[in-house]
Amino acid sequence: MTHPANTVRVDLAERGYDVKIGSDNLADLGPTLAALGKVSHAVIITDANVQEPHAVKAAESLSGEGLSVDLVAVEPGEPSKSIEMAAGLWEGLLDLGADRKSVIVAVGGGVVGDLAGFIAATYARGIRFFQVPTTLLAQVDSSVGGKVGINLPGAKNMVGAFLQPMAVLIDTATLDTLSERDYRSGLGEVVKYGVILDAELFDHLEANVAGLLGREHDLLVDVIARCCRLKADIVRQDEREETGLRAVLNYGHTFGHALEALCGYGELLHGEAVAIGMLCAARLAERLGRIGGDVTRRQRDLLAALGLPTELPKLDADRIMETMTRDKKVQHGLLRFVLPTAMGSVELVGDVDPADVRAAIES
Ligand code: GLY
Repeated sequence: MTHPANTVRVDLAERGYDVKIGSDNLADLGPTLAALGKVSHAVIITDANVQEPHAVKAAESLSGEGLSVDLVAVEPGEPSKSIEMAAGLWEGLLDLGADRKSVIVAVGGGVVGDLAGFIAATYARGIRFFQVPTTLLAQVDSSVGGKVGINLPGAKNMVGAFLQPMAVLIDTATLDTLSERDYRSGLGEVVKYGVILDAELFDHLEANVAGLLGREHDLLVDVIARCCRLKADIVRQDEREETGLRAVLNYGHTFGHALEALCGYGELLHGEAVAIGMLCAARLAERLGRIGGDVTRRQRDLLAALGLPTELPKLDADRIMETMTRDKKVQHGLLRFVLPTAMGSVELVGDVDPADVRAAIES
């Protein structure tokens, strides 16, 4: 059976690229990369979770085009986005003879994409980079838009760069091997796109809960393409997050990042924290008279139907407030929130009274 395929263009003039979305299309990697220019050597950076079968399949496809291919697997998980890991990879690339004709291919989730992209941005003052995201979260968010980086011990994503890839190849078949919890966590970011930018997408998600939970490939190709198109449009207008437009993608993230940090990364997955964070932001917007209760209720019902958490973990409100103020999205000590004005539309609000924020957490 053939599945529909979809291509989304991230229109950034000379840095523009295609996001190719399909099912069972991993074998297209070699031809896609070869068509983009002179590349003789590829270094695949992956992790032990997806090395077999996805990274190995990717390597076969690249070898089939006559490229020499090396594969480096890092430990799965957030701790790999470290200075030590980056230093090890720089040395490793030197040993492999990587140079400016080499390309780094990230095959994995957000950790692998962010780390591999950071290495590509810095090694030899920057070499080419190709993204093959294998988690839903990375497919709809981190693989598109060029944010790459590593963590400092006390600060997530604090060191990094903007490096747009040569292209992104998304194969929905890679989602078949994802754990239920990781998959559902990715759905949290999918719901986010509906709330912030596209009421019709939100309706579509509400009408297709069973298909989404069943990981139906045709549905996923369409939904992922819609999310990537929405993100591409934002990135085209505000590539480096300078005008506030790209910041709308952080809906639910100010609360969510604080929850992730307080619960421990890995305890609460990113999409789970964002789901709870979106509901806190919706309650805050409701409190400020920006939306009616129906916008919050629809989000809560959809997130719950998709198996995502909707209740705050038992945490002290003071600690949540304190952690939020340390977030790097805070400007000059002021908390900024992305708040809905209606389903499918949000605004960046910079002057929120902390008492209202606390009430939204506690309500
Ligand atoms: N994940 C938010 C962004 O790419 O801007």
